[in-house]
Amino acid sequence: MSDNALLDTLADEVRPDAGGPELVPLDPDHPGFRDPVYRARRNAIAKLAFDYVTGDPAPAVSYTDAEHDVWKHVRELLDPRHRDFACAEYLECVDAVALDRVRIPQLEDVNARIRPLTGFRMLPVAGLVTARAFLSFLADRIFLATQYIRHASRPLYTPEPDVIHELVGHAASFAHPLYCGLSSHFGRAARVASDGDVERIARLYWFTLEFGAAIEDGIPKAYGAGLLSSVGEMDRLRDAELRRFDCRTMADTPYDPTDFQPFYFVAPSFGAMHEAVSEFLSQFSD
Ligand SMILES: [Fe+2]
Repeated sequence: MSDNALLDTLADEVRPDAGGPELVPLDPDHPGFRDPVYRARRNAIAKLAFDYVTGDPAPAVSYTDAEHDVWKHVRELLDPRHRDFACAEYLECVDAVALDRVRIPQLEDVNARIRPLTGFRMLPVAGLVTARAFLSFLADRIFLATQYIRHASRPLYTPEPDVIHELVGHAASFAHPLYCGLSSHFGRAARVASDGDVERIARLYWFTLEFGAAIEDGIPKAYGAGLLSSVGEMDRLRDAELRRFDCRTMADTPYDPTDFQPFYFVAPSFGAMHEAVSEFLSQFSD
């Protein structure tokens, strides 16, 4: 399927109420639910994604000083945790992507760094999409990224992926050939798998590229974006329940995206994870 066809499919999926005043409905327990200024920001940034036209550069967001402050605050807390508990493959890419530590980077500036290295690029999306849609874009080395930032009242918590998760968690990994090859493999598998198997593939993605850890120098190091972008998850990795890495088990294990993860699957090494997941996905891809 071409980029155009994929984006058209996605547009139908994510904008059923795009004509209404509220583009992004928030749950009542969302930190920004009672903040009209935040809700207006969410709608304005979502509109940029809805209005995105294939082939254009990713739209620039005019972030406020308060939004930049949230970014800076979380980065300052994550940096030392990354030095100690991020895997070597992720750390290798941090300098190549060189995300600004003070101001929220624009997707297009990040694309200018990662695309020449691996062909990966990040395009805007207003919110959550189905697992098949999200994963399928990866086959074409496109990562759908949100651009809004979490509510300032709870800088260490977000109930859904935000720009901190997308850029700090995922963007650096797109400078690494192994991360990129595996991401693309997830996409190719999701495109051809049955609905039931897409669910299993999505669970495997969750427990690896989102919340995976691998042994390095005798201790578990984070390689998943959900871990790498969360202060709380990085701290929990030191004493959470660690489970034995097994692709079939991960594919059949449900997860809760709304809370800290109660356990992590830990691979013997990043390389062993890459090899085992690639072999598992090969049963689906053409
Ligand atoms: Fe993610």
